[in-house]
Amino acid sequence: MKDITIGIVRDGNIEQCRDLCDELMAFQKAKATISPECFDPMNFDTRMKRSWQHALDRQLIVAKDGDIPVGYVFSTIESVGEGRDAIPDWAPKVENGKGFYPDWPDFPSKVGCLSNLYLRDGYRHIGLGSKLFDLAMEWLESFMDVPVVFIYISNGNDEALDFYLKRGFTFSHDVFGGFIKAVYTFVDSSHRRCVTGRGGTARQTGGVSLLRYREGRM
Ligand SMILES: CC(C)(COP(=O)(O)OP(=O)(O)OC[C@H]1O[C@@H](n2cnc3c(N)ncnc32)[C@H](O)[C@@H]1OP(=O)(O)O)[C@@H](O)C(=O)NCCC(=O)NCCS
Repeated sequence: MKDITIGIVRDGNIEQCRDLCDELMAFQKAKATISPECFDPMNFDTRMKRSWQHALDRQLIVAKDGDIPVGYVFSTIESVGEGRDAIPDWAPKVENGKGFYPDWPDFPSKVGCLSNLYLRDGYRHIGLGSKLFDLAMEWLESFMDVPVVFIYISNGNDEALDFYLKRGFTFSHDVFGGFIKAVYTFVDSSHRRCVTGRGGTARQTGGVSLLRYREGRM
């Protein structure tokens, strides 16, 4: 039986997810049918670390088997300002393609983003992804001024797309000509709660608050 620990990282130690993030980028490239070469410059430094540094707020939750990180979810709060339609260097060049955000009127100035969710092969389909997803959504839904959460799924990763659609997300649009699919959910304000100091089984040790988990459906 696996003895998995799930911890909310409180001390900024994101380095522990370097290998997992690089694995996620390689996984996405292997699945992609549209412009897979665009994943080549994507890695922990260019994606996760950069995003961690630039977000308005951020949360990292890591699942470990013993001392070894085997999965994580990384979420951010993003400012949607003048750079709203900016096209990153790595994006495929497409004519009239939409960017990250849909052209809704009165688009909010802040959005939540569930940025990376990854479980190493051998740790999938035992409920860990759902647990990490629920914890990330709890945090994302706790911001009073964040009315919507987006998730971006790379092309060809239909299993992940289904995972989010089954969990209340709605397809929004194709990003950069279908290189990425955007899904969203509006935050139900009745879900909002204070995530710090909430009850339950979490406890703090060092930079991490821990939730223990034994393999099985949750
Ligand atoms: C997508 C991903 C994060 C999902 O995580 P996961 O841990 O496999 O997900 P879960 O085990 O919680 O749920 C997956 C399915 O298994 C089912 N399941 C969960 N526990 C189970 C168990 N003990 N026995 C059988 N089935 C189970 C769930 O009901 C779920 O089915 P559903 O989606 O039809 O509801 C994971 O598969 C992964 O890392 N994939 C590779 C990377 C990736 O694609 N990331 C997403 C990038 S956007």
